[in-house]
Amino acid sequence: MQRVETVNALRAQVKAWRDQNKIIAFVPTMGNLHQGHLSLVQKAQELADKVIVSIFVNPLQFDDQADLSAYPRTMDADIKQLMSVATDLVFTPNIDVMYPQGMEAHSTVVVPGMDDKLCGKNRPGHFDGVATVVSKFFNMVQADIAIFGEKDYQQLLLIKKLVLDLNLPIEVIGSETFRDESGLAMSSRNQYLTDSERKKASVLYQTLMELKNQLEQGEQDFKRLQQQAVEKLKLAGFSPDYVEIRRAGNLDLVNTEDTDLRILVAAYLGKARLIDNIACNLA
Ligand code: PAF
Repeated sequence: MQRVETVNALRAQVKAWRDQNKIIAFVPTMGNLHQGHLSLVQKAQELADKVIVSIFVNPLQFDDQADLSAYPRTMDADIKQLMSVATDLVFTPNIDVMYPQGMEAHSTVVVPGMDDKLCGKNRPGHFDGVATVVSKFFNMVQADIAIFGEKDYQQLLLIKKLVLDLNLPIEVIGSETFRDESGLAMSSRNQYLTDSERKKASVLYQTLMELKNQLEQGEQDFKRLQQQAVEKLKLAGFSPDYVEIRRAGNLDLVNTEDTDLRILVAAYLGKARLIDNIACNLA
C-alpha cells in the first residue's frame, strides 16, 4: 500500500492508473478505523480496480472544539488495518495541504435543504464543513466512485445532492451499516461508552426496529410513535436529540401517503452522541 501526503503525489498516481484504464474508488474517512470502515473498503474493491482511502480529521465540520480535540487519532493502527484489507493507496494530508490559506476565509460549500434539519439543526455548520471537505477531496482524488456508509444517512444524501447539483463527475454509493452482534452500529464514538453504557447501547437499534414494526403494522400517528420512542430511550438512560420518521429520498417530513421511509435517531449515552437509522418500505 502506498501512502501519499500531497495532492501532486496523489494526482500522479491517479493519472498513472487512469492511463491503464483502471476504475478508481474513493473512501473518505477521519481515521480511527473500525470494521465499518473496512467494510466500505471491501465494497469499494468489489466495484473498482484501485481503492484510495483518505484519513483527515476535518476541523471545519466540528461544531465543538472539545469534540475535535478529543477525537481519537490512531494513524499507525489505521495504516495497519488498511494494509490488512489490501488498500491500494492511503492519502493522509495534513491541515496545510487541506487548508493552505487557513480555514477562516475558505470558500464554503452549502447544500441547502439538507444541512439544517435533524443532525444539521443541532450541529450548526457541521454539514457545510462536510460538504466543503468532501468537494475538495473529490477534486483532489478524481475517482470514479465514492463510498459512504449508510450509518451517516443524512451525510450520504447530502453528498448525493451535492454531486447532482454541481454536476461532479463521480458516482456516490451507499454501503450498509456494519453492526456488532448486539445490533449496535459501528462508530468511532462507541469507544466513549463505558462497559455498562455499551450494554445499553443496542436499545437504540431495538427502538428503530420496533418503530419499523409498528409502521409495518399500519400505525400512522407518526408524532405519537416518535414520542413513544423518545420516552423509551430516556427510560433506558439516553438523552435523545431526535427520533424521526422521514422520507427516505430527501428526509422531508412524511405524510400518510408516503411509503419509502427512513427512521433516524440521534441520542447521547453518557459522553457519546450516537446516531443510527434504518429503512422502512411500506409499498
Ligand atoms: O464520515 C466521515 O468520516 C466524515 O464526515 C468525512 C466524510 C470523511 C468527511 O470528513
